[in-house]
Amino acid sequence: MRNTPTNPVTSRGRWMRPLVAALALTTLAGCKPLDDGMVAIFGRSMRDQRSFDPYENTRPAPEHSVAFAAGNFPTADGVVNLGQPEGVAIPPFTQFDLGVPGVGGPTIQGLVNPTDPTSAQSLARGEELYLRFCVVCHGPDGVGANAYVAAKHPLLPAYNVSGANVAAYSDAYIYAMIRVGRGLMPEYGSRITHYDRWHVVNYVRQLQRQAGTLQAQADAPAPAPDADGGDE
Ligand code: HEC
Repeated sequence: MRNTPTNPVTSRGRWMRPLVAALALTTLAGCKPLDDGMVAIFGRSMRDQRSFDPYENTRPAPEHSVAFAAGNFPTADGVVNLGQPEGVAIPPFTQFDLGVPGVGGPTIQGLVNPTDPTSAQSLARGEELYLRFCVVCHGPDGVGANAYVAAKHPLLPAYNVSGANVAAYSDAYIYAMIRVGRGLMPEYGSRITHYDRWHVVNYVRQLQRQAGTLQAQADAPAPAPDADGGDE
């Protein structure tokens, strides 16, 4: 401290001390009284400030940019929006429509894969997303036992996305599974958009082809839920 006692800043600081102490005391009773005290003294509190709201875009949109609605934005509370292109009617669905775990029922009607399931572009995109979102739990080859978290997640080996069970499910079922999740599987609808979900479905099919489980299914839209006797 090399300040002289006559420093105006220091003397004003000394005068402020009881006030600061009083304000500090009010914090013992929580923030609201402190805020009220600040408002009473200064006319405003820390809460009245020019700051960003949670999730508010901190940068203004670039000039000439065109705003668009995110595909996954729900149209109403509780509505599951599929992010379908406008004009295409698809019924909303929930996890309950997915049916019994292990039995991929054909309960999701009206979901039709709009992508070319074997195009190299779609498979490349699907692989990119699969490696980003799914691989940790379902393994690089779709075999749960090969997943990185398999040791910590004893249920995963029972769910092989490249296995015969999932090969018998419809594209729509796998799409819906990605969209709303089920049980211990989180939903990825908020992170993977409509078309990208189909690319992931196509890539899962590719894994099944490689595993030799998809063989005769070709483009058959209707799944046979109990074709292999079902499982859990
Ligand atoms: C956090 C771990 C985790 C991640 C990441 C994950 N899953 Fe799953 N997945 C599971 C679990 C656990 C189940 C079993 C769900 C149940 O208990 O009903 C499952 C089940 C499935 C099933 C149904 C299997 C069956 O036999 O019924 C499919 C299809 C599937 N996941 C696809 C995906 C795809 C595609 C992704 C990436 C977008 C993904 N999963 C990401 C954990 C995960």
